[in-house]
Amino acid sequence: MSLIENEYIQIDLLSKNGELNFHLVNVAILSGLIGQYCELSQRDLIIIILGSVIHDIGKQEIPIEILDKPGKLSIVEKNLINTHPYEGLKILAKFNLSQEVLDIVQFHHQYIKELPKAIKLKDIVQDHRAAYPIICSVADVTDAVISKRAYKLSLSPTVSRDDLLKKGILDIDEIYKAIGIILD
Ligand SMILES: [Fe+2]
Ligand SMILES: [Fe+2]
Repeated sequence: MSLIENEYIQIDLLSKNGELNFHLVNVAILSGLIGQYCELSQRDLIIIILGSVIHDIGKQEIPIEILDKPGKLSIVEKNLINTHPYEGLKILAKFNLSQEVLDIVQFHHQYIKELPKAIKLKDIVQDHRAAYPIICSVADVTDAVISKRAYKLSLSPTVSRDDLLKKGILDIDEIYKAIGIILD
C-alpha cells in the first residue's frame, strides 16, 4: 500500500481561518521545493509535503483574535500560541500518520532553535530524517515573512534570509536561488 493510501487524511483544511489555510498550502509548496533542492526521494518529498500542509493545524484551536492580534502579545497569549504543535498532535492522533510526519508537526519550531552549529541543510537532510522538521521551518519562516498577514505587511525575503542565516542555515542563498525566491 502506498504512503498516500496508507496515510490518507481527511482534515477540514478549509477551516474558518482562511489565512491559516493559505499559510499551510504555501509552506507545503515551499517545503516540497526545498526537499527537491535537497535531492530527496519521492517518498520523502511526500512526507515533507504532507507534514508541512498540516504543520500548524493545531492553530485551529487557538482563538483567531489572538492569532491575528496586531502588536505585542502578552506572555499568556504567547504561551497559548506555543501550544499549537501539541494541539496539532492531538487533532492528528486519530489518523494513521507516520512518525516522520508527526515529527514535522511537533518539532517545526523546536529543531531549528536547537541547531548545534551552522549547517548546510542539503548536507544534513540526506541521511538524517530528524532534519525534516527543519525543512518545514525554513519554509515556515519564509512564508511568515513574505506573506501579508492580518497583523503585518508583506516583507522582503531578504528579512527571512537574514533570519535563517542567523539561525544557522548556511546554504539559504542557494536554497532561495533553487526555489525561485529572488533577493533584492
Ligand atoms: Fe507553527
Ligand atoms: Fe507555520
